Amino acid sequence: MANVTVIGAQWGDEGKGKIVDWLAERADVVVRFQGGHNAGHTLVVGNNTYKLSLLPSGIVRGTLSVIGNGVVLDPWHFKEEVAKLAGQGVTITPDNLHIAETCPLILPFHRDLDGLREDASGSGKIGTTRRGIGPAYEDKVGRRAIRLCDLAHLGELEPQIDRLCAHHDALRAGFGEPPIDRARLMDDLAGIAPFILPYAKPVWVTLNEARRRGDRILFEGAQGVLLDIDHGTYPFVTSSNTIAGTAAGGSGLGPSAAGFVLGIVKAYTTRVGAGPFPTELEDETGERLGTRGHEFGTVTGRKRRCGWFDSVLVRQSAAVSGITGIALTKLDVLDGFDEVRICTGYRIGDRTYDYLPPHAADQARVEPIYETMDGWHESTQGARSWAQLPAQAIKYIRRIEELIQCPVALVSTSPEREDTILVRDPFAD
Ligand code: IMP
Repeated sequence: MANVTVIGAQWGDEGKGKIVDWLAERADVVVRFQGGHNAGHTLVVGNNTYKLSLLPSGIVRGTLSVIGNGVVLDPWHFKEEVAKLAGQGVTITPDNLHIAETCPLILPFHRDLDGLREDASGSGKIGTTRRGIGPAYEDKVGRRAIRLCDLAHLGELEPQIDRLCAHHDALRAGFGEPPIDRARLMDDLAGIAPFILPYAKPVWVTLNEARRRGDRILFEGAQGVLLDIDHGTYPFVTSSNTIAGTAAGGSGLGPSAAGFVLGIVKAYTTRVGAGPFPTELEDETGERLGTRGHEFGTVTGRKRRCGWFDSVLVRQSAAVSGITGIALTKLDVLDGFDEVRICTGYRIGDRTYDYLPPHAADQARVEPIYETMDGWHESTQGARSWAQLPAQAIKYIRRIEELIQCPVALVSTSPEREDTILVRDPFAD
């Protein structure tokens, strides 16, 4: 059995969309297992560009796609995304898309609460996508969520709505907001139920059957390890576990199903939203990375913060997530720099660190220790073999491998799916 789990190894936006698409062509099933429509995966297929937030990337090629129980699902957004893709000629049906019946729903007041909290946080803002992801996960672990399967039992929903509203009305009152309009909520749920229920399935059955058949399963992570609720730069993180281990719990397969763990790593570093970023460049070099790399968020359009490659963080991500090999993306953005830098450690006063200390205040004050290498002036864009890469770019990649203690499996040299150097086929392992 050769399954592959793809995760971001930095703060998200590492270029997972292209790599997942590249792998999806050879997968039998593609599975999302955490997060929600806060993700933004861009796929370029021929002349078409698809931007997905919630749907698994395999759907664009008609591969069986699964939204696992670990995902929080906004049913109205789902309808919109299905319609948007239909407009681009992608057919989505209950035959090629299965959604876990146990997915907790993101409801309109989750989105409101996300925004209200952000607006009230001043300089403590997390910089969320304001899509209600955090509040929906809170209700899941608070055991008061409305789940997809509940839409098939609307007549029995009232006690759950009572519990949920009691909790949220108190929170809303604290923000000076009126209580939830229950009649409207019930109408909205009744309105969306017929559209979404046909997709609701016991996906753990779908996936265990696929596994027994020997199908190749591709798990598609969203965000990145540094945004993981346990292992990320807390509290500036998302509300789910983004590490590879979540593939099992978030879909209904055992831990051995993850297979080859492919960490997607950008050749430099970016971050959207607030929080520590030791190698951030708030100067011309940072601007240059952002402009060359088109670093604007897929979901919110926000400008991404940019900085040098941080090997300390990626080594930590690789360790906590059990990464087997990495896909290095956007190498071409570094073309033309006289020199490039890699962060190899941190310093606070006299003390040095070879990992990111856990406290937010320490994370904010660490100073990066850099190693400087000569850059390259030749273009790496579109390279499809090592022979097409300048010697200095190869040196840069080799140094990254050494520092993060993890081998490169793929190098991506443009958004085009074929512009990829394959070192080790994740599906062949
Ligand atoms: P939330 O997931 O909307 O709660 O946002 C929490 C943090 O995760 C914020 O810093 C967001 O910018 C970040 N985030 C969420 N989804 C993504 C993503 O897909 N790419 C990059 N950052 C993300």
